[in-house]
Amino acid sequence: MSLWFSIRASIRALPFWLSLLVLFPACFDTLFCFAGENPAVRIEQLRAEIKRHDELYYKKASPEISDTAYDALKRELRELEAAHPALATADSPTRRVDDDAPDTFFRHHPHRAPMLSLDNTYTEADIRAFDQRVRKQLAARATSAAFPAPRYTIEPKIDGAGISLVYERGKLVRVLTRGDGSGGDDIIANTRAISELPQQLRDDGGGLPELVEIRGEIYMAFADFERINEQRAAAGQPLFANPRNLAAGTMKLHDSAEVANRALHVFVYGVGVCEPGAAMRAPITTQRDLLERFRAWGLPVIEKYWLADTPVALVAAIAELSELRAKLAYPIDGAVVKVDDFASQQILGSHATAPRWAIAYKYTPKSVETRVRAITLQVGRTGALTPVAELDPVAFAGSKISRVTLHNTQELLRKDVRAGDVVVIEKAGDIIPEIARVKIEARAAGSAAPAPAPFALPENCPECATSLVAENDAANHALLRCPNHDCPAQVKARIAYFASKACVNIAGLGDSTVGKLVSQGLVRDAAGLYDLTPRQISTLDGFGEKSAARLHAAIAASRRAELWRVLVGLGMPDVATSRAKTLAKHFDSLAALASADEAAIARLPGVGKKAAANIAAWLADPSNRAMVGRIEKHRADSRRPR
Ligand code: IVH
Repeated sequence: MSLWFSIRASIRALPFWLSLLVLFPACFDTLFCFAGENPAVRIEQLRAEIKRHDELYYKKASPEISDTAYDALKRELRELEAAHPALATADSPTRRVDDDAPDTFFRHHPHRAPMLSLDNTYTEADIRAFDQRVRKQLAARATSAAFPAPRYTIEPKIDGAGISLVYERGKLVRVLTRGDGSGGDDIIANTRAISELPQQLRDDGGGLPELVEIRGEIYMAFADFERINEQRAAAGQPLFANPRNLAAGTMKLHDSAEVANRALHVFVYGVGVCEPGAAMRAPITTQRDLLERFRAWGLPVIEKYWLADTPVALVAAIAELSELRAKLAYPIDGAVVKVDDFASQQILGSHATAPRWAIAYKYTPKSVETRVRAITLQVGRTGALTPVAELDPVAFAGSKISRVTLHNTQELLRKDVRAGDVVVIEKAGDIIPEIARVKIEARAAGSAAPAPAPFALPENCPECATSLVAENDAANHALLRCPNHDCPAQVKARIAYFASKACVNIAGLGDSTVGKLVSQGLVRDAAGLYDLTPRQISTLDGFGEKSAARLHAAIAASRRAELWRVLVGLGMPDVATSRAKTLAKHFDSLAALASADEAAIARLPGVGKKAAANIAAWLADPSNRAMVGRIEKHRADSRRPR
């Protein structure tokens, strides 16, 4: 009775609840937080989950999930926080440096000088541009002509975790992680077992500074990385993805005995502060002098470095280092180029995050991992469906990749790529990035997300809903095809192909404009392009009078394209560039080809009966015939003197 009463009261009060929602839309979130889809709830779940994995990884050295699965959790959280800024918090795991978050187990210390990062480059051209910038800035800022042309040191970029070694009067007192760049955790206990790291600097006769912050890298040798992963595999534990992750995770373990077992190493390459400055002892005026001084103090200096006076020598040194890379016992991920002269370094200075006097040339990885957001099916000009994997964008080989083709449905099913999968991208034949394989192990590990479901082949065309037919392509690969010649996707693809560089090459007419023209009903086939008026083009989204006139002129100019280009653009079966050129040589117009008989076509060199039959059948089709006639008329008009 009382329950019924309260329900009735609530119903009567419904307008009141609704008005609250209008006035305070934020309540909406709270009210619906039991719906399971609520972003605030999901964000909290993700934060808790990430925190648990951080503990397992950093403190217990026993991760439960792969790095990529962990990254996927972080990415989901980052995306949710970006979409709901009100739910972002300062202590969210997305705000922290990935593998070097402050840990109260260690004592935190400020760095005397900030630990900067390096700007990255990936190409030889970038390196030359860096050299140009350095020369220009030195010339502009140097007050006297005393500054020499820059000389550079080229050092291996050790792929580990940055650290700062603090020596007071020669005694190692702290080993700080990079942290947020302004201060880090003191992991000195975890470095005691590193035999090459001196606890006391050797006085080489020049005296030792009161305090010096020496910058270097903690790293793991390949052999130890493999040994540890073998042990983990035998114990059924998840493996470390690479030596860098292992080094970064190991240096912050809470168990020094386990750290000693894992075998960390150190290289040094720079200085933060030195007090008093003179203690570095003249004549230390260059990076090279500094490295040699480190060696004299007994520190583990990077094994090999180069000096270069010219951009040519600079590029050659980087190439030599990359040759050497395969022979090194530890990982490097690039070269660090530094202006050698300290006075010049000072003139060049730094920006917020990195010095202007140094740059990292990064080797591009042979593969990258990313997540498949969705698998879409693209309908091409012949109606064949091409599956495409839409990816979380990743930088790879100098460009950003957000989608890759899966070629055909057979390939899709063979590789068993699923939406939500983590995949490895590599270059096929050194040119086109493609999915090399699915990381099956990530399917099980990504506990937060639902397991990806196998891709289900559709029965109908995703564009026009026509029933699909199963066929084999020329290479005998199974494919699905939409048999509807008027399918809007096919129409668009045929016209875009006709206009493309490989065919009549209409500048400024790409897929998106063709899409708009077809969707607005302004063109139905390639010939229709020539009937467009500048006024019609100007009605398209993103076009004004001028751009419309420009596109109209480009279309008109394509009427004078070489005949073979038109023949390729028509998309006749079996007619690619070489046959199109043969046909164009023997028939001087579209009309001549259209009225030629099949036997005459078959006799042409390199054509043959099968192709001739296909060409003749295509030309016999009434709608193709009509379109060819219209194109021919426009071509003839363009030749007529005005
Ligand atoms: S110099 C202020 N030299 O790479 C410039 N860094 O991606 C300090 N690294 O933070 C860096 N090898 O942790 C320098 N030979 C080398 C290096 C090196 C590895 C690391 C370092 C730096 C990161 C930047």
